Amino acid sequence: MNNVLLIGFMGVGKGTVSREIVKQSGVMALDTDDIIESMENRKIKKIFKHEGEAYFRSLERRVATWLSHSVRDTLISTGGGFYAVPNIKLIGTVVYLYSDFDSLYQRILDHPNAESKLNKRPLFKAPEKAKKLLAQRAPEYEALADIIIDVRARNAQQIAKEIIKKAMK
Ligand code: S3P
Repeated sequence: MNNVLLIGFMGVGKGTVSREIVKQSGVMALDTDDIIESMENRKIKKIFKHEGEAYFRSLERRVATWLSHSVRDTLISTGGGFYAVPNIKLIGTVVYLYSDFDSLYQRILDHPNAESKLNKRPLFKAPEKAKKLLAQRAPEYEALADIIIDVRARNAQQIAKEIIKKAMK
């Protein structure tokens, strides 16, 4: 199979869906935020705070170069802004997990660890700003997608099953 990349906004469930795909298919999986935290040996929140967003984006671009050169047959979940790396289409099949803002915000609030989920995402601190950011990104996510999955009103098992069927041959 080609690599499969999960893109989409913060809180849409990329991590949850990735874990469910692994469970159902046994594919190997990576997460771009996890790779960056390992490279830097610190949390995303700290990187944003001490080095700023531009530095974080430069790390995303380094990860993207490495993925396109060196990673095969792998499911890759990404941070919400990773889609903007210039070579994303060279990395693999792009699957966009779509949700409107209110549904994904509610999904986070419903989580038992809602506070920590919001807290570790610097760009989600102000919901009004995050909503504007999604409005700005939505057409870009859509334009890059090979496959679009509407994640509303479906659980992770069903979403994973659909992605395996459509993207992982
Ligand atoms: C970001 C999303 C985060 C993380 C960073 C920036 C973004 O990942 O990469 O805080 O720009 O949307 P998640 O989408 O996993 O929350």
